[in-house]
Amino acid sequence: MNIILLGPPGAGKGTQASILVTERGMVQLSTGDMLRAAVKAGTPIGVQAKAVMDAGGLVSDEIVSGLIGEKLDSMAASEGAIFDGYPRTEAQAVSLDEILAGRGRTLAHVIELEVDEDALVERITGRYTCASCGEGYHDTFKQPKAAGTCDKCGSTEFKRRPDDNEETVRTRMAEYRAKTAPILPLYEARGLVKRVDGMADMGDVSAAIAKILGS
Ligand code: AP5
Repeated sequence: MNIILLGPPGAGKGTQASILVTERGMVQLSTGDMLRAAVKAGTPIGVQAKAVMDAGGLVSDEIVSGLIGEKLDSMAASEGAIFDGYPRTEAQAVSLDEILAGRGRTLAHVIELEVDEDALVERITGRYTCASCGEGYHDTFKQPKAAGTCDKCGSTEFKRRPDDNEETVRTRMAEYRAKTAPILPLYEARGLVKRVDGMADMGDVSAAIAKILGS
């Protein structure tokens, strides 16, 4: 099963994708994570993407669609894909159709996480991750069980994303409204869109998604 998680920055796409990876063995394809890895490794794509990401803009369609195609090629046909943060433009949505068709895959659902944008700034500016295993935390909504120690791997090092400041978040939201939200009608016309209340408790959001995906 291949699905898209759609929603503005901080809607909970990464949080829910990681739950689906753990609970269903699906594979998370986050273009944001792929780009951050390229920036960290200093690859030509990373060098090109860094300034755009730091400013909250969108990296070129060709780059992100290329990354998605490569990642899908490394997956077994039996593994389901969760597209997290992709597609983000109409051109990317068209590319995704071609990429999937070329690999004999189809889209089962486009799950839109509906959220109140004003609450997202708090979600994003309070977010941090384990520097060792990448487990996500939040100053208010998800703290480690033992303060300062990662629940998953025991590391005491944490990090925050450079684009998780209020000014950049507002730019990212404007980009979402202008370029990403308009792709929803394309999927609505195909009957693929399912809506979930992304402002609900994390567990309730997961339960709503599980209901859509079935057993
Ligand atoms: P990307 O990494 O995709 O960032 P984003 O879309 O802005 O999404 P986020 O990761 O910020 O949010 P999320 O929805 O995953 O929320 P999360 O689960 O972490 O992209 C970064 C940049 O890369 C872009 O700006 C762009 O430059 C570039 N890029 C990436 N893909 C691209 C593409 N396809 N095309 C072009 N450029 C691209 O949750 C946020 C916080 O809230 C967490 O702390 C979490 O614990 C908490 N939380 C989650 N759910 C709940 C809940 N239900 N209740 C309370 N708290 C919650």
